[in-house]
Amino acid sequence: FLVNKGNHRHFMEKEIHEQPEVISHTLAHYLDFTSGKARPESVSVDFSKIDRLAISACGTAFYAASIGKYWFEQIARMPVDIDIASEFRYREMPLSKDSLALFVSQSGETADTLASLRYCKSQGLKIAAIVNVKESTIARESDVVFPTLAGPEIGVASTKAFTCQLSVLASLAIKAGRDRGTIDEKEEQRLIRHLSVAPRFANEVLRLSPQIEAVCRELMLVKHALYLGRGTSFPLAMEGALKLKEISYIHAEGYAAGELKHGPIALIDETMPVIVIAPYDKLYEKTVSNMQEVAARGGRIILITDAKGAAHANVKTLDTIVLPDVPEIIAPLIYALPIQMLAYYTAVFMGTDVDQPRNLAKSVTVE
Ligand code: G6P
Repeated sequence: FLVNKGNHRHFMEKEIHEQPEVISHTLAHYLDFTSGKARPESVSVDFSKIDRLAISACGTAFYAASIGKYWFEQIARMPVDIDIASEFRYREMPLSKDSLALFVSQSGETADTLASLRYCKSQGLKIAAIVNVKESTIARESDVVFPTLAGPEIGVASTKAFTCQLSVLASLAIKAGRDRGTIDEKEEQRLIRHLSVAPRFANEVLRLSPQIEAVCRELMLVKHALYLGRGTSFPLAMEGALKLKEISYIHAEGYAAGELKHGPIALIDETMPVIVIAPYDKLYEKTVSNMQEVAARGGRIILITDAKGAAHANVKTLDTIVLPDVPEIIAPLIYALPIQMLAYYTAVFMGTDVDQPRNLAKSVTVE
């Protein structure tokens, strides 16, 4: 069907704004909100029969999968190996037949991801894939396909496919937790109730665009930026850095907040913006102390947090983006939005070709 930009300047902006709707569709495919249970017909894998997960993916899909690893480990107590597909395919990692190989790809055509899939198949593993394009090669060659219902994604920098991948990964982790007996029915219902409110919070966050746009007038002036996060906010920090470099061509790095002192702190001065992703959760105090190390060296902090986090930050920031107070499991989905918007508005101000950034392709079918 016809895909157009509607009232938006770019496909990327349109796709950012579609997120409440496509997250809602995707979650509803996997989860029954009435009974508070994962739908067995949509998650047709019995995780009690699987020892570990071997995940591989590229780019944004890799960062989604990296967040998924935290969920599988915490909720289902399931060991997860995760790799960038271009490494996985040559790493000769020992694979057990009781592992499930899981591939995450928007296009379903990425050459390195496909090669990793074929390698796992040759080793006799069962193959599952989270894909957005149902007719793709990766979907065809998988034993089990978990679709993301994001609709066509046109902007080269992935946005809505990412949050839909997160929606699927969270749903699978809940099903895995039930299959493996690491969560009970009540906990399953609680987590599903928490996921069900994600679209509403995503909508609320979209309304912060004027504030985010304003801080991008500062961000567009810099040469380098650092993103910090802990726990599931760590892969999100890497995704934030990737988004910024992809479309604004500003050099950015994402780091685990605790790694700051092992290198990147040497880069901090008054010219260095540091984007800190820190919902007020059990790791918040740790991240705050890293943020204070940045502040003490004159780094300019853009803090993305919630009201409690803002109240406890105790540090001067260039800007604090205050998101709604959201349940822990949906934080990565909700915090992804300001991260995408920061990159988007910065690129728009810089006048780059947002939907078709130089040197990049939507789908990389060569090695
Ligand atoms: C390219 C795109 C990225 C994407 C990556 C993986 O680099 O520009 O946006 O994340 O490929 O693509 P896939 O289709 O496998 O998710």
